[in-house]
Order: sequence, then structure tokens, then C-alpha cells
Amino acid sequence: MVEKKLAGISLLYYPALILIAAMIQGFFRYSWRININGFSRKAEADLRERVFSHLQKLPLSYFQHHKTGDLMSRLTIDIQAVRELLGFGSLASVDAMITIVFSLACMIAIDPWLTLWSMLAMPMITITVRFFGRHIFRWSHSVQEQLSDISAYVQENLAGMRVVQVYAQEDNQIAGFRKISSDCMRKNMWLATLWGIFWPLMRVVSGIAATIVLWLGGRQVLQGTMSLGEFVAFNGYLGMLTWPLMAIGYVVNQYQRGTAALSRIGEVLDAEPSPRYNGAAAGEFNLLAGRTIDFRDLTFSYGPGNGPALKNITLEIPAGTVCAIVGETGSGKSTLVNLLLRLYEPADKTIFIDGIDINRLPAPALTEAIGYVSQDIFLFSGTIRDNILFGMNTADMAAIEKASSMAQLLPAVQEFTGKFETIIGERGVRLSGGQKQRTALARAIIKNPPILVLDDAFSSVDAETEEKILTQLRQFMAGRTTLLISHRIATVRDADIIVYLRHGEIIERGRHQELLARRGAYYELYRRQQLVRQVENLDRLDGPL
Ligand SMILES: Nc1ncnc2c1ncn2[C@@H]1O[C@H](COP(=O)(O)OP(=O)(O)O)[C@@H](O)[C@H]1O
Ligand SMILES: [Mg+2]
Repeated sequence: MVEKKLAGISLLYYPALILIAAMIQGFFRYSWRININGFSRKAEADLRERVFSHLQKLPLSYFQHHKTGDLMSRLTIDIQAVRELLGFGSLASVDAMITIVFSLACMIAIDPWLTLWSMLAMPMITITVRFFGRHIFRWSHSVQEQLSDISAYVQENLAGMRVVQVYAQEDNQIAGFRKISSDCMRKNMWLATLWGIFWPLMRVVSGIAATIVLWLGGRQVLQGTMSLGEFVAFNGYLGMLTWPLMAIGYVVNQYQRGTAALSRIGEVLDAEPSPRYNGAAAGEFNLLAGRTIDFRDLTFSYGPGNGPALKNITLEIPAGTVCAIVGETGSGKSTLVNLLLRLYEPADKTIFIDGIDINRLPAPALTEAIGYVSQDIFLFSGTIRDNILFGMNTADMAAIEKASSMAQLLPAVQEFTGKFETIIGERGVRLSGGQKQRTALARAIIKNPPILVLDDAFSSVDAETEEKILTQLRQFMAGRTTLLISHRIATVRDADIIVYLRHGEIIERGRHQELLARRGAYYELYRRQQLVRQVENLDRLDGPL
């Protein structure tokens, strides 16, 4: 009777212990999860913002040598891997350690020898997870890459649909798509196979340990050297060990992945920011009063492998004047502007604004002084208004309208139903090339800068509209220093000085009439454009007849 009672107590005793252990574990798991996960999410956001901010200040040459897709994966996938290591990784390690120590202690307390025997098979769990985990990760990564290839392919195909249809390339496109799509399927199948082997294998491995315990422990129970309660409890503790042992294998994989990701992120963070962000505090220079631009014996090449894009450029642009630059494509016109804006780094003491070496100027002072319309316009998705203001938060509607009207953008805007609030789509796809250029011009005008740089800003605008813009712009340019790059004689003929660039060198300079009189390169350009215009006029006369 008494014995029966005792057996009843011990039968309840061990399961109760397991229940309590599970409850304690549950409570701690909850609080760790809240703390560590919260911490890792914060760390992830911090790191992501740090990398992004750092990217903003890297020199343009950096982006020529690093693929966009690669940088994007560092900002997303790599940072995610670091977060998983910090979050789940550290959580699981702590969790696993405590569970292992606790379970093992309890198991040893019940029966050290049985513990030893059952532990023979358990490390296999860690090894299996580690082996499969590595392969599964590799293949899911490759599936992920394949998926982004698919979306890139579809995106390009949709964007180029007009060309595809006109050149009857539909079938080729379909064949190309089928190839990457079936690649993706193959990888997914292989991934499914790996998972398919993994889970049953895990069961087998943990089953081996269970079998050993069942066999040895069962015998002891039959022999009476172990109570049924102890036996059940032992099995319970053994079951609690499966997950932490899996976690160890998983965490080791994650550790390798996380540290590799961290070093890739570190590479980005270690890259030197562009020197334009060094220099004195912005307040020290007031370029808004400054206007004279001075190039002194400027020679520049884009890199050790490239020849010089500019050679011995010496050019002074006095305050308030218009300097025009003409020349064939590739002659170095845009390079001159890139250097003036310090998008690339000129040598010291080669470019001066109001006598100050621009390498000594902090970037904000420089960019504030210069209104710039680039050759290839980039607009951000958003409204026309956002794109004109682009970060300026002071301008009122009247100023926006004035700038747009000066850029001859207003008539186009007024035709849109949304007016200035019209969403222009990704990269401004809903605007024509000329409208984009005029939006960019309005963006430069509204800044009211003392220096205006127009790099082929009218290339997509028809000659008539360009004439209108120039007429309006002349008032605006009065009192400002303007660098005007164009391939049209009509655009540059009124400039105070015209410079002809060829292969990075100034080969002619002077006013329109002087250059014509020289009968050199400028004159040749003029004559060619005259001829074209005459032919166009003839066409126009012939047309209606
Ligand atoms: N980012 C760059 N990296 C390397 N070479 C460049 C780069 N930009 C321009 N170049 C080269 O420099 C020369 C001048 O180019 P650029 O200034 O753009 O000419 P332009 O504006 O007169 O058409 C060209 O030979 C061009 O190939
Ligand atoms: Mg150019």
C-alpha cells in the first residue's frame, strides 16, 4: 500500500518537474525574445541607415566599380544575415546552452550511464543540421538570385516591349524566359529534395538515441533498477535536447554567414568618402557673392588606365559673363563640369571660384552656389513640384510658376490635369525628354544660384522652344556667371566667350564673329549647321507643293 503510494508520488514527481522546467523555459524564452529580438531589429535598422548614409557620400568613381545589384544585396540580404546572427543566433545559443546544461544535469542525476549511451547519437543531430543547413542555404540563396534575375528579365522585357514587337523578337524573349524560369524550377526541386531528406534523417538520428534509451532504460525498469517515473522523465529530458542540438548546427552556419556578411558590409563602410565632404565648415565661405570661375592649367584623367580627358585647360570666366563650350562628343565638356562640381576630384589649385581653390570648399557651399542641369536628366518618382523643389522647402507657388515659365515648362504643366501635383512616374517616365530637361532647368533656376551650369540642357528641346527659353533666360543670366555647353551654334552665338574643345584641349576661343573669321573648327561647325538648316528649309518649302 505504502509502496504503491510512493510509486504514485514518484510517477507524478518527474513529469511535474518537466512541466515546471518547460514553464520556466517558456518564460525566459519569452523575455529573451522580446529583448534580444528588439535589440537585433534596432541594430539592423542602425546598420542599414549607416551604410545608406555612407553610400551617399562615396565618390562617383566608387559606383563605377561596384554593381548596383551587389550594393543592394549588401544593404538588404547581408544586413539581414547580420541581424539573424545577432537576434536568432544569440537567442538560440543562450537558449540552447541553458537547455542542454539543465537537461543533461537532470539526466545525469537520474542515470549517468544511460546519459552517456544516449549521448552517443545526439551529436549526429548537430552534424546533420550543419551539413544540410549549409547546402539548403546555398540553394535557397541561388533560388533567390534566380528570382531576381526573373524579375529583372521581365522588367527589361516590359520596358522594351516596343522594340521586341517591332523586331519580332517575341519568341526569342519567350525562349530566354523559359530558360531562366526552368533553371529556377530545377533549383527549387533540388531544394525540395534536400528538405525531403533532411526531416526524415533528423527523425532517424534522434530515433537512434531514443531507441538506445528505450532498450537500455527499458531493461533497467524491468530489472527494477530504475523506476517507471525516472524512465519517463529521462525520455522527456532527452526530447528537450533535440531542439538545442539542432540549434547549435544552425547557429554555426549562421555565424559563418553573418560574419561573411559583416565583412562585406565593412568593405562599404571602409570606403573613403569623396573628398568633397572634407574641408571647412560651410558657413566659412559665402559663395553666394562669388562669381568668377577660374580654371588654371587643369589636366585630368578618370583613372590610371584612361588617357587624360582634359589637358592643360586654362580659362577664366569673369563674374557675370556667359562662357559657352562647344566640341564633339567625348571632347571633355561634361568632364569640365564634373570637376567644377567636384563630382570627380580635380588636382589642388586647378579650379578656383572667386580666387578660392574649390578643393578647399565644403560641398554645401559649392553646391549652393551652382545651379546645374546635367546632360542626362534624372528625375525622382513623385510630383513635378517635388522635382522642381527637390529638397527646397521655402519656395512658394509663385516662385515655382515663375521658374517653370522661364524654363518654358509652364505650358506643358498646365495641360496636365494634376498641374504641378502630377505624378511623373518612376524616373519621370511620363514626361517627354524635353519636358524632363525643362523640369531640371526649372529646378536649377528656382535655387537662384550665382552660377549656372547648363550641360547640353536643350538637346531634347526643339530649336523654337530653345529660342524662347534662351530669351527668357537671358534676363536670369544677367549678373550670374554661366557655363553653357551646347552643340548648337544658335545656342552659343551670343556668349561672351566661346571655347572649342577637342580631345580635351581648348583649340579655339573667342566671340562668335571672331571665331567665324578664323575659319577654323568653329567655322566648320557653323557651316555644317547652316547647311543642315538650309536643307530643312528647302524641305519645308517642298512639303506642301
Ligand atoms: N566616368 C567616366 N569614366 C571614365 N571615362 C570617362 C567618364 N566620363 C567620361 N569619360 C571619358 O572622358 C572623355 C570625355 O567625356 P565627356 O566629358 O563626357 O565628353 P563630352 O561631354 O564632351 O561629350 C571621353 O573620352 C569619355 O569616354
Ligand atoms: Mg557631355
